[in-house]
Amino acid sequence: MVRLGVNVDHIATIREARKSKEPDPVAAALLAEIAGADGIVCHLREDRRHIKDRDLSLLKQVVKTHLNLEMGATNEMVNKAIQILPDMVTLVPERRQELTTEGGLDVAGNASYLEEVISTLRVNNIVVSLFIEPDIYHIKTAAKIGADYVELHTGLYANAQDLNRVVEELEKLRSMAMAAAKIGLGVSAGHGLDYQNVGEIAKIEQIEELNIGHSIVGRASLVGMERAVRDMIHLIR
Ligand code: PXP
Repeated sequence: MVRLGVNVDHIATIREARKSKEPDPVAAALLAEIAGADGIVCHLREDRRHIKDRDLSLLKQVVKTHLNLEMGATNEMVNKAIQILPDMVTLVPERRQELTTEGGLDVAGNASYLEEVISTLRVNNIVVSLFIEPDIYHIKTAAKIGADYVELHTGLYANAQDLNRVVEELEKLRSMAMAAAKIGLGVSAGHGLDYQNVGEIAKIEQIEELNIGHSIVGRASLVGMERAVRDMIHLIR
């Protein structure tokens, strides 16, 4: 059965719109677990624009399932990971100006540096995943430098406009998931997955876990709207 990792970054983004205390991504993580999530994912960015150090350290204390920390492969973040000890670290490329993680890691181009980072994390019993485009060179290098998992970037599939492109991207994800599993890597996938496009990805046998944030937090804000308005009306009348 495919596992679901729920990314709670957007809850922190709403909180930071007012620099206030709510909504708290830690509370959202607990509710996601109650609803059956298999894991919680958060991205501690260099500029701390949504998830803060405080959130990460509380998540480590309260998450009962599996905590997956997305981070850039910098010294600062590696030290942070060693201090917090999440169950898994997913290394992602990070550019300051981007709205979200825009592409996969250039594993083949940074192999020796990433090998060192992976080994430091693994010595501390952290499972390491690399967020990559579905590309055979990155997959082979990921295995060679000691990664445990690859997370296949589903952005091109999710953004494809015409059916031919959708089929093409889906085939690429399917064949790369098979290739990664065949050389012994664990396989997960994510980015841009929503209630319409997730079905085909979930059918790919080698994909063990899907990490989803935007569409779940977006839907939560809508399905929770009626209740939130009723609660406020109850208070003011
Ligand atoms: N996986 C990785 C590595 C990501 O960077 C993100 C976005 O933070 C996701 C999954 C989730 O993507 P989305 O928010 O589009 O569901």
